[in-house]
Amino acid sequence: DPDYYAMFEEIHGILMYKDFVKYWYDVEAFQARPDDIVIATYPKSGTTWVSEIVYMIYKEGDVEKCKEDAIFNRIPFLECRKGDFMNGIKLLKEMESPRILKTHLPPELLPASFWEKNCKMIYLCRNAKDVAVSFYYFFLMVAGHPDPGSFPEFVERFMHGQVPYGSWYKHVKSWWEKTNNPQVLFLFYEDMKEDIRKEVVKLIQFLDRKPSKELVDKIIQHTSFQEMKNNPCTNYTTLPEDIMNHKVSPFMRKGITGDWKNHFTVALNERFDTHYEQQMKESTLKFRTEI
Ligand code: PPS
Repeated sequence: DPDYYAMFEEIHGILMYKDFVKYWYDVEAFQARPDDIVIATYPKSGTTWVSEIVYMIYKEGDVEKCKEDAIFNRIPFLECRKGDFMNGIKLLKEMESPRILKTHLPPELLPASFWEKNCKMIYLCRNAKDVAVSFYYFFLMVAGHPDPGSFPEFVERFMHGQVPYGSWYKHVKSWWEKTNNPQVLFLFYEDMKEDIRKEVVKLIQFLDRKPSKELVDKIIQHTSFQEMKNNPCTNYTTLPEDIMNHKVSPFMRKGITGDWKNHFTVALNERFDTHYEQQMKESTLKFRTEI
């Protein structure tokens, strides 16, 4: 299907946006600073949510400072580049320390400098089915994606890693294997939905700060789904409409767990579960099955 692949190109065996691959030498040569904070995720796993929480921690709960600019300027997207537009590396080079950055790269493709400098990294994952649903709508609303086809067709591609950033299964398993490094904090979207206070405290402590009740309360308030959906500095509505079309589907879409139940038929779900089992059986990484 040449139309589907026209906008993508493989890099080190992983499907990627062609625009990003053009400048990959810049990604590989990227120089980390020891106090950089890396926020790593597979796409659609809650990157924006955890990013705003980390930014709030760094600004000591100062909401005004979080509203100074759009999130993609405050927390640059490392490998992103569309010509000179949204050039993550350029933003990062010009940024004062400490820098917080977003990436969707698997650990093998993360610039070596981050490992050499022993930077702190936060990995957030989300259950595969909800990621597939969220990714499907993302294909529809963001330029640079081909027609995803029907939802079952898209899920088939998702299962086989035929989407940007490749296999979800490999991504979560590879990052899970990095958790013997105390500099890597591994979080679940579902845990954040269930007990945000607990996860915020975990993040504050990981970043060597004090989880005062006042700070935690402010963070929870400012980073709720409704608050972030209405905040132009977090909801991506400041991007041009030809890049992101929120009328097709808003970036801040539902923000729940279990929306997959509204999208997977019984047959598709069975197929998915069988394949999932094969992919994940060797790993000690377990997702909660009740969701
Ligand atoms: S991206 O484009 O990969 O950076 O997207 P990402 O931010 O990782 O994922 C977008 C999904 O996260 C949901 N979201 C939230 N959920 C709960 N609370 C908050 N505050 C929040 N902010 C963003 C967002 O709605 C997308 O999920 P879906 O399921 O599509 O609603």
